[in-house]
This record gives sequence, C-alpha cells and structure tokens, in this order.
Amino acid sequence: MLPSLFRTKSLEQLKARAEAPEHQLKKNLGTFDLTMFGIGAIIGAGIFSAIGTAAAGGLDGRPGAGPALVVSILLVAVACGFTALAYAELASMIPVSGSAYTYTYATLGEMMAWIIGWDLLLEYAVSNVAVAISWGDYTRSFLENALHIHIPGWLATDPRTALSLVNGAPPMALGDKLHLLAQAKAGLADGAATFAQWSTLKAAPTFFGFPITINLLAVIITVLITWLVYRGIKESARANSFMVVVKVAILLAVVGLGLKFIDSGNWKPFAPHGLAGIQAGAAIIFFAFIGFDAVSTTAEECRDPGRNLPRGILYSLAICTFIYAAVALVVTGMLKYTELGKQADPLAYIFSQHGLTGWAGVISFGAIIATTAALLVYQVGQPRIFMSMSRDGLLGPWFGKVHAKHGTPSHATFLTGCLVAIPAALLNISEVVELTNIGTLFAFSVVCAGVMILRIKRPEATRRFRMPWVWVTAPLGIAFCLWLAKGLPALTWYRFLVWLALGLGIYFAYGYRKSALARQEQG
Ligand code: ALA
Repeated sequence: MLPSLFRTKSLEQLKARAEAPEHQLKKNLGTFDLTMFGIGAIIGAGIFSAIGTAAAGGLDGRPGAGPALVVSILLVAVACGFTALAYAELASMIPVSGSAYTYTYATLGEMMAWIIGWDLLLEYAVSNVAVAISWGDYTRSFLENALHIHIPGWLATDPRTALSLVNGAPPMALGDKLHLLAQAKAGLADGAATFAQWSTLKAAPTFFGFPITINLLAVIITVLITWLVYRGIKESARANSFMVVVKVAILLAVVGLGLKFIDSGNWKPFAPHGLAGIQAGAAIIFFAFIGFDAVSTTAEECRDPGRNLPRGILYSLAICTFIYAAVALVVTGMLKYTELGKQADPLAYIFSQHGLTGWAGVISFGAIIATTAALLVYQVGQPRIFMSMSRDGLLGPWFGKVHAKHGTPSHATFLTGCLVAIPAALLNISEVVELTNIGTLFAFSVVCAGVMILRIKRPEATRRFRMPWVWVTAPLGIAFCLWLAKGLPALTWYRFLVWLALGLGIYFAYGYRKSALARQEQG
C-alpha cells in the first residue's frame, strides 16, 4: 500500500496530457498580461480590510503590529519572494495548469497531491468567503455614504461578529454571549455603550429568543459571480487589466492624498507589541499577498511559459509589495493604529475620519471593484482545480462534468458557489482569513520542498528558470512560512488539522482506489 501512496506522475506524463490536442488552450498571454493577472489576484480584501486587524490586533485579543505593520509587510514579502522563486522554477519546468497540486503530484506523490488539492480549497474557496465578506462591508459603506441607502445591521453582520459587538471582551463562553445578546436586545445589558452597539442590530428578527443576523450582501455577490462563472463569462485579460488599473490607482491615491494627513505622533510607539505583534500582524496580512501563485494556473495559456511565468510571478509580487508598504506607512500615520481594527472598511473609514467623505466613497468603490475582480479569479480557479482532480480520478466524475452549452465545469462551479455563499453568510472575516492563511502557507512550504526534490530526482530536466541558491533559499522559504503560521492562533491550527484529517479520510475512502494512476497500475 505504502508505495502507491507516493506514486507520482512523471513530468512527461503531465506535459503530454496538457499538450494533447483535446486539452490545448489558446496561448496568447505574455509577461504584461501575467503581471496584470497576478496583481488582479493579489490586491483584494487583504489590503482593503485585513490591514485593520493586522495593525490593531484580532477580536480574540491577539496583538497587532501597530505602525510596525510595514515591517510585517516586508517580512511577508521576503517569505513570499522565496516561494515565488520556487513557483517560478516549477512553473517554467512543468507548464501545466493545476499549480501546486500538479507540482506535488510530480514530486511528493499522489497522497500529498490530494492533500494539496484539498488544501487549495482553503486558498481559493475559503479565501473567497473572506473576499465576499469584505465586498459586502465595502458595498454597505458605499451605499450608505455615497447613495444614502441604509442596509440594516442585522442583514450585514455575521452572527459571530454580532455576538462580539455586544461583548467587547472576547474570551467569553458562547452561552454567556448569547445571554448578553438577548439581554441587550431587551435593553437590559450592562452599559450604554453595549446597548448602542447593539442598536445597529436590534431590528433583527428572533428565533426562539435568539436574534438572527446574516451577511446578506456577501451572499448576493457570491451568487451573482457564481452565476456569471457558470454561464461561461470568463475574466478576459483586458477586463482584468482595467480592474487592476482602478485598484492600483485608488491605492496610489490613498498614499498620495494620505501623505498630507500624516501625524508622526501616530507612529509612536512604532512596535507597541514588539516582535509578537509584528509576527501576528504578518500572519494576518499574509492574506493580502496570496495570489501571485495563481499566475501559474495560466501556464497552458502562455506564449512562452518558461520565460513569461517566472517574470509574471515575480513582477506582480514586487509591485504589490511596494504599494502595500506605502499604504501601511501612510494609514498608520493618518490614524492611531488602535482605531484601525474597529471597522470592516478601514481605508474608507480613515478618510472619512479626516472629513474626506467623498474620497471615502471613492475608496469604497475601488474596494468593491478590487474585491469583485479577486472574487471572480478565485471563483473561476476553484472549479478548475476540482476538475483537474476529477480527471486524475481523485474526485468523482461528477466534479469534472462540463456543461454542454456553456462549456464550463458546471457542477464544480455550482458546488464552489455553495461552499463560498453559506460560510460567507455566517462567518467572521478574521477566522476565515486565518484559515486561508494557514492552508496557503502549507501549500507554499510544499512547493519549496518540491523544488529541492526535483533537483535531486530530475537534475537533467530543462529548467528555463532556476531558483538561485536553492539549498539556502528553499529551506528559508519553508522556515519563513512556518514562522508566519506560528503567528496564527492555536484554534486556527486545530481547525486546519481537522481539515487535513477530513481530507485524508476522503482520500482513503475514494481517491486511493479510484485514481487514474491506480487503475493504470492495475492494468
Ligand atoms: N490576496 C487576496 C486578497 O487580498 C486574496 O483578497
């Protein structure tokens, strides 16, 4: 049994399948398109929303980085830089879509490939839960500020956030929170402040005495995007480039306009929670960097993947790092870092606090565009990963079913819509971001390991791009990823381990027996 868990697909098998005439995709993407695609996937909810929690700290009382968020960002950029080099080498060597899942199939074998495919659900579908929540937050603030349309709090808040609003002190048993919430609704909770917070939610209907809250806007956008993706509307390179220009322009405007409002007093103390705060902030803001790896999923649509993929991956990461560092410096200078964690739309909030409500509206609009594009990219990507896994026999044929008329993986697209919409209605953005982060950090570590394994197993294979000083940079990439993952709360680790155990259970119940490689072996 053991050897079959580690059965690998050879580089030749992988390339041959992608080059088969029935699988050929149109090859018209160059370095510019790939860089734009990377930036499109990278800039999203992270910089527009998670930046607040990264600076100010989490709901669970974890410390934030404070103004030293810029240090967290640079550290994450270094970690991602090592991983990006690893992706670049593997993408230039195995120009096949499927990204980390495919690379793992070629290096660490089938069981690990399944684990990575399962884990990528966290990077694609679960990250989209966070992006949908952020979309909802910014849309609500845009409707309110620019169009004076009010969406009631109970229709725009997940139940967990509603509970923590009522009770500022997070480490409290759920039952106690529910009790407080019921009391607050009846006007009995201690303290006027608590009641004021509750008042935004008090119109909520109740179910057996408990108030119902749901994040409806996040559900609406997920359903709309899923419908578009199901119908076959793909994000063309041109539409993506337009959205990228809007995102980047708005972030540069935040920097340019914000410079005038910097009060250097806000930068003191620079690192209020020392290294622990910088590490926790880095672990959260890591979310904002996810996406450079998505460039590798377009491998089969590149004109010259060996040259263009490494460039697209590295350029998009470098450009976003520069923008993020500038944004972090400016926003922590504009407002005390402790103020940044209170709102779901921190960038717009900062500008409205300085009386620039018009600009706050523009930023909200930019965030809506940014998150719409990111949502679309991952909502397109996830079903294609399901499809690849189904083709390899690790998931049932149902997952790979292509719609006769629309030509899209319709079942997998519908499933992805459900997997994103339901949690988006009910979960808190920080929890979702953290789960995505730990899953992605795991995938990144495996990719760094994969480069070293292929250097040993296939030293002669053509590599158009080589990771420099691989025996130093690849282990450093793994070490940095582990360091970042260590900054995530214990609960996130437990959830992740449960997730992996669940995945392994499914593999042994299904994929192990049904995989295409297993059937080949059996003749
Ligand atoms: N990096 C992507 C975002 O921030 C996931 O939304």
